[in-house]
Amino acid sequence: MRLDVFTQIPHAFGWLTEQKPVATVLGGELELRLFNYRDTTPLRAGQVDDDPYGGGPGMVLRVDVVAAALDAVYDDEPPARVVALTPQGRQLDQKLVEELAAEPAITLLSSRFEGFDERIVEHLCTDAISIGPYVLSGGELPAMVLVDAIARRLPGALADGSGESESFSAELEGGLEYPHFTRPAEFRGWPVPDVLLSGDHGRIEAWRRDESRRRSPRLTSGV
Ligand SMILES: C[S@@+](CC[C@H](N)C(=O)[O-])C[C@H]1O[C@@H](n2cnc3c(N)ncnc32)[C@H](O)[C@@H]1O
Repeated sequence: MRLDVFTQIPHAFGWLTEQKPVATVLGGELELRLFNYRDTTPLRAGQVDDDPYGGGPGMVLRVDVVAAALDAVYDDEPPARVVALTPQGRQLDQKLVEELAAEPAITLLSSRFEGFDERIVEHLCTDAISIGPYVLSGGELPAMVLVDAIARRLPGALADGSGESESFSAELEGGLEYPHFTRPAEFRGWPVPDVLLSGDHGRIEAWRRDESRRRSPRLTSGV
């Protein structure tokens, strides 16, 4: 799939693109393109934002700047999903990640300071997504969260099977994953559960399923 990110800080994504699983799928299952609003702004001196009408603190990302950036890349054919990253959007969860990972192309728009001119969200975007009910300083971290979460769901991103029974997966009925332990088998008097050392795969499976359900109140309460 193709992920296009519009940002004022494209170099912020350098770290992400060097890390697995993004690095694994880049250039194969994932094409990631980064665009800087400043490169296509119709305003002088790289201006991309302006004072809010009605007054108040902070700067607002201009609608003409974002429209020019989208036109420069897509001409008349924007992708089916153009997402504004905003704390006011639909809250991200694994269901939404799966939905997005099935798309052939997605565009992510980030902002900074006071955020977007509302006409960007209303007229240039198909979706508005929040990564949680708190306010960050810019859309770069939310964009990276989405790129990473989507990349994990692409074919070949993870070692075989390792993405299938994670928290929120269908295999765990949308619940939380069971606990993991590794060596040493005992540390400071804290033992690893006997069942995991038993070599009995049937019992281990059953224990893991029980633990997953115990940690997932939604499943045990039947809601
Ligand atoms: C300081 S925030 C703007 C907050 C906005 N004035 C408000 O109160 O809703 C600047 C930008 O960071 C990004 N951002 C901050 N928190 C976010 C979140 N929880 N989810 C997605 N994007 C977020 C958005 O792109 C936002 O426009």
